[in-house]
Amino acid sequence: MHGTIYKTYSLNCRNNNFDASCGMRLLIKNIQELFGTFEHNPQTISGLDMKNFPSLSNAWLAVEDGIIVDYGSMEDWPGIIDWANLEIIDAEGKMILPCWCDSHTHTVFAKPRSLEFEDKIKGMSYEEIAQRGGGILNSAHAMSLMSEEQLFEDAKERILTMMYNGTGAIEIKTGYGLDVENELKILRVIEALKTNLPIPIQSTLLIGHALPTEFNGRKDDYIQMLLHDLMPQALKIGFDFLDIFCERDYFQVNHLEQLLIQAKELNKPAKIHLNQFYSIGGVALATQMGALSLDHMEVIADNDWIALKDNPTIVTGLPGCSLFTKIPYTPMRKLMDENIPVALATDFNPGSAPSSNMNLINSLACIQMGMMPLEVLAASTQNGGAAMQVDSLCGSITPGKLANFIITKPLERISELFYFIGEDKIDQVYIKGNPLR
Ligand code: NIG
Ligand code: FE
Repeated sequence: MHGTIYKTYSLNCRNNNFDASCGMRLLIKNIQELFGTFEHNPQTISGLDMKNFPSLSNAWLAVEDGIIVDYGSMEDWPGIIDWANLEIIDAEGKMILPCWCDSHTHTVFAKPRSLEFEDKIKGMSYEEIAQRGGGILNSAHAMSLMSEEQLFEDAKERILTMMYNGTGAIEIKTGYGLDVENELKILRVIEALKTNLPIPIQSTLLIGHALPTEFNGRKDDYIQMLLHDLMPQALKIGFDFLDIFCERDYFQVNHLEQLLIQAKELNKPAKIHLNQFYSIGGVALATQMGALSLDHMEVIADNDWIALKDNPTIVTGLPGCSLFTKIPYTPMRKLMDENIPVALATDFNPGSAPSSNMNLINSLACIQMGMMPLEVLAASTQNGGAAMQVDSLCGSITPGKLANFIITKPLERISELFYFIGEDKIDQVYIKGNPLR
């Protein structure tokens, strides 16, 4: 019913055409270093294994119909039998890596909150801004005034920018709707984005992001309302994951528990906003109940460390949020040293993390989180993919996966991608075997 209101997706506005990959064959030769070379999908890479993210120097990469078909060393150059429809690219001096998999975003939002930015510069904290009616409630009000078509167009533009910067798969959350009508509106927009954009997009129903004023003093009722009124309708539209903002001043562990029980019943993996400001007991519960990922985790208490140990749950660090709101960075170094699998994501949203650029996130991860470049690659590609269950399609250079990859400008070593903070070291981005730039 709503499909018709969206304009047919086309990248022609940026001189690109994603449709005609049929019969297209591509061979890239002389790649100085090809990163993320796994013969089979490695699924989640554990904390200690991340530093071993593999690569092949002096390599070639073959693509057919938008899919990676093979790779190898130049010493082992593939004998070309069929030259028809074959494009050969020379990548001398350049490196190739899988596209970024950004597993935590709030890309469908109504308006920037740049006025709050000025309050922030003057010294107000994220929580103070929220307390005087700014924050998520501000975004929800703007959301209620925005048409579905406009939301779609704006989000599409944002995603094109993300793709230009090397992102080849994303997750998008609802959560700025707060009521049934507006949450469903966001979910429909994400569904339309899924079918109209050429990269994998996963959707998360974020139940319990902030308490609307009409529910003041009735937090339990609000969560019950969402679970009973919103959930059945959201299921009809479809979504991939469930989330809640579990935090001292937002929603508590009993609300998290209700959500995790629902998630189990519906067979929807949980990705939780947790431990951004305080540790309130959610980590033990969420890991026990098999959450797919715990996101933020800037604050980790002793008992949380015990719960995380030997658990497949991925911890997703969001350094863009720490940078912007001046809160501590997630202890990624220690998490990896404890063999806990970690991912990196932008948290792209108008309130706490207004950058959608994974390259900035990766620089921050090196500088502020003590992550080594190969660990950053593992966290921002394969583990990001695993944290949103698209790793069978994206995240590594593996035959059978989508040909979504980045070609760098000539670099001496891969760390230069993160070292030149804010500089564009990407030469080309390929999505399904098609050049984007
Ligand atoms: O992930 N922490 C909760 N939600 C977002 C911020 C939302 C907002 O301020 O608009 C986050 O940081
Ligand atoms: Fe978030």
